[in-house]
Amino acid sequence: LHVIHIAAEMAPVAKVGGLGDVVSGLGKALQKKGHLVEIVLPKYDCMQYDRVCDLRALDVLIDSYFDRQLYKNKIWVGTVEGLPVYFIEPHHPDKFFWRGEFYGERDDFRRFSFFSRAALEFLLRAGKKPDIIHCHDWQTAFIAPLYWEIFAPKKGLNSARICFTCHNFEYQGTAAASELESCGLESHRLNRKDRMQDNSSHDRVNSVKGGIVFSNIVTTVSPTYAQEVRTEEGGRGLHSTLSVHSKKLIGIINGIDTDAWNPATDAFLPVQYNATDLQGKAENKQALGRNLGLSSTDVRRPLVGCITRLVPQKGVHLIRHAIYLTLELGGQFVLLGSSPVPHIQKEFEGIANHFQNHDHIRLILKYDESLSHAIYAASDMFIIPSIFEPCGLTQMISMRYGAIPIVRKTGGLNDSVFDVDDDTIPSQFRNGFTFVNADEQGLNGALVRAFNLFNNNPEGWKQLVQKDMNIDFSWETSSAQYEELYLKSVARAKAAKG
Ligand code: ADP
Ligand code: GLC
Repeated sequence: LHVIHIAAEMAPVAKVGGLGDVVSGLGKALQKKGHLVEIVLPKYDCMQYDRVCDLRALDVLIDSYFDRQLYKNKIWVGTVEGLPVYFIEPHHPDKFFWRGEFYGERDDFRRFSFFSRAALEFLLRAGKKPDIIHCHDWQTAFIAPLYWEIFAPKKGLNSARICFTCHNFEYQGTAAASELESCGLESHRLNRKDRMQDNSSHDRVNSVKGGIVFSNIVTTVSPTYAQEVRTEEGGRGLHSTLSVHSKKLIGIINGIDTDAWNPATDAFLPVQYNATDLQGKAENKQALGRNLGLSSTDVRRPLVGCITRLVPQKGVHLIRHAIYLTLELGGQFVLLGSSPVPHIQKEFEGIANHFQNHDHIRLILKYDESLSHAIYAASDMFIIPSIFEPCGLTQMISMRYGAIPIVRKTGGLNDSVFDVDDDTIPSQFRNGFTFVNADEQGLNGALVRAFNLFNNNPEGWKQLVQKDMNIDFSWETSSAQYEELYLKSVARAKAAKG
């Protein structure tokens, strides 16, 4: 198969959260299975260019339509993590990807509808004939209506099937219906209830809804979340659209890139280690303590880690509570996170300042890839008290690094973390601590149980760490599920053509 992912993120060069990890992890896994996988990304000014190999510009500029005009796009090509990537650099006066940020701009709807159109123009001009175009999240969900409204019928780019993965239904990409016209989608055709009209406003359109309605395959990132989004609250108003298109929707749990996340080879760590040599893990804990200026990093004092975007989804009030509870229980806490929400960022800055010179607590409020690896390796426990969580990758990464997850039972956390004390689950699958209620009591119960096991049963704890480190979180199984979906969809299209 020839698969082209069109996305707004790709780790490690352009990563905000898990979407970036998924695009490279899934891409690599499919490539390993023998498929031709290519990626199309915007050429952001804030990308990590030192991680792109052999970056060069193509000779020809690609025209793309926007606001009734043609704009030139320079196309750059390079290799990221062994995958061929095309970067689109628009010559547009609004300098769409020259903002020092990936997202969060007032004109994001315009930026990404421009990108989606330009990406398809590029595939067309470059003579690409993908079997599958896989788009992700609202930023590139425009691909589905653009493809079936404009590119397949009028422009002859008609061999592909469209797969849309929604990683988070909270972010839907809505705008006044007239804004669709910029990228050439006709609002009178698309601002209809059964097409892109937002379910809560007649004069607005919704990009994720367009992705659902127009794609051949719709996925989300865990089986539990695929159930949750069928409810009004979980689907953030798109539950009715999903029920009309329910045959297309499937939940496939993400994997992690087990080459990039491997404590035995991780170049970011001062000491590499594996499940049979946990001394190395203890040394990472001491090294992190020294680097962050924590005093008495004692192997017998549990270190609780937390690495997250600080947004309401992640249960910020429970994260704050966990810091104080950890202190009360005699542990240490390290948080690495940053927030796009000013009042949350400010609140955590306040807590960070309060604990600035504390012996056992550190809050580092920024995005820092190398520090994230050091924290996974150093932590004994890892806390994820999400209110909702489509999949979540940090619980899988933490287990691979031997940090036991303490999570709220929701979405993908419910599909990957099973409570050590839950007798209804076969003991070989039990790997962490879970709680149900999104309140302080719920979290207390799980954290206290984790501390008890750590303090009172070191041998039992060690066995749990080793068990978690040996779980297979690779993309092997999940990429095979995507492969099967792609193949079936391509076969259906062939059969329909006769
Ligand atoms: P989400 O995509 O909702 O943010 P995921 O759990 O799917 O959550 O993925 C988060 C990814 O981003 C993980 O790879 C995690 O290590 C990384 N990450 C989150 N915050 C930071 C940060 N402040 N610094 C470095 N990496 C981070
Ligand atoms: C989103 C979700 C997260 C998921 C990630 C990758 O950011 O919030 O739960 O793991 O996408 O699919």
